[in-house]
Amino acid sequence: MMDHLSGGVTLHSGDCLDILPTLAECSIDSCVTDPPYGLSFMGRNWDHGVPGIPFWKEVYRVLKPGAHLVAFGGSRTYHRMACAIEDAGFEIRDSLMWVYGQGFPKSHDVSKGIDKAAGAERTEVIGKSARHGGGLVGNGTSYEISPEVPDITAPATDAAREWQGFGTALKPAFEPIVLARKPLSESTVAANVLRWRTGALNIDGCRIGTETRTYTSTGNPGANTQRFHGGDGRDPEIARAYAEKSKLRPPTTVEGRWPANVVLDHSTAWVGAITAKAGARVRVKDLKITAGTNGYGLVAKLGGYIEYIGVNFGAVGHSHMTATDGGLIAQVGAYTISGGGQIHFYAQLGGKFFAQGGTITLSGTPAFSVAFAQAVDLGLIVSQATYSGSATGKRYNAASGGMIETYGAGTSHFPGNSAGTGTNFGASPYGMYQ
Ligand SMILES: C[S@@+](CC[C@H](N)C(=O)[O-])C[C@H]1O[C@@H](n2cnc3c(N)ncnc32)[C@H](O)[C@@H]1O
Repeated sequence: MMDHLSGGVTLHSGDCLDILPTLAECSIDSCVTDPPYGLSFMGRNWDHGVPGIPFWKEVYRVLKPGAHLVAFGGSRTYHRMACAIEDAGFEIRDSLMWVYGQGFPKSHDVSKGIDKAAGAERTEVIGKSARHGGGLVGNGTSYEISPEVPDITAPATDAAREWQGFGTALKPAFEPIVLARKPLSESTVAANVLRWRTGALNIDGCRIGTETRTYTSTGNPGANTQRFHGGDGRDPEIARAYAEKSKLRPPTTVEGRWPANVVLDHSTAWVGAITAKAGARVRVKDLKITAGTNGYGLVAKLGGYIEYIGVNFGAVGHSHMTATDGGLIAQVGAYTISGGGQIHFYAQLGGKFFAQGGTITLSGTPAFSVAFAQAVDLGLIVSQATYSGSATGKRYNAASGGMIETYGAGTSHFPGNSAGTGTNFGASPYGMYQ
């Protein structure tokens, strides 16, 4: 048992079946839990069943009347958990969906199963799995796929051919969540919150988009049109008529959106045309990349990794490439730049770039309004490439511990029509502290 925040939080480490009985009844304000899903996850013993009624009864006992319970479940076993929670005495108040979009499918390959049962060996190799490992070798002149990459094999029997492409599971992309409440002890929510400080949800504290928008009689008639008159803004004549009318509307304050029972795992901060985050690895090849107002091209963040080759970077609102929060972006072959933006390489918050070399061709003299390369907050840009063609704007900007190494000076290393800011760290040993 450990105390935190000057005794305001006590952390009990152990089996909850041992710990819960030691807690006083009606002493806990809420329970947020992610219990076993009962899917035998990776053969773990703890995941052989969802917690049953006795477990939830113990949670019920320690919670205060009106206390909320939030319990995450698996999409295949959620119903058992929800029933057990209800049978323990809770009111089910809602079901939430956490939609994260990505998961690992656990599917059985039916065609392979048929060949295996028939004792037929699949000998004809028809390709390599796309989820490959490997990389460029010989300074980028050829690509080697590592020997461990599994072969894709052709079905060996007629029956397997017929069932080729069939599996048994979808990719899991959401988690259901039970929102339940221990019944009130008082006759109204008002009386319950005053007695126990539980029973209600802090709606305003969870609103999305906390900015307060004020609609004035002259400002932003387009937004008013859609919001208040039902016009979809697609017909310019109707939109203009609505816009005129909406000028009559007095100033109004709009609060953030009411918290919903769907949670989308999508952050608008640092999301690019292609984004790799949280350990994801992405290879981007032979694409033209553009992005609208303030938009980003490639973004690697939170340990995400992107390697790119053959890309044509067109016009973007913000940066062609951003490596942030420890993300890494590596150039593994030649590419071109045909449009500008604020920044081409943007490394911040420990984000890193490695540009391995070769000649990068610019066309149409793109403009970079901040700098071609900017490294701040311990961001790092290492470029062995040279550039042909020209650009306008500052060539580099290194500040707040950001570092840029170009292996040479002048516009053939970073293009632009003015130098930039930063200290040349030359050949001397270099370290920084703050
Ligand atoms: C679905 S996992 C939760 C994973 C966690 N939310 C995360 O993101 O890492 C269920 C967890 O419950 C733990 N667990 C299972 N039985 C338990 C028990 N009786 N007391 C405490 N923890 C338990 C398991 O060790 C496992 O880490």
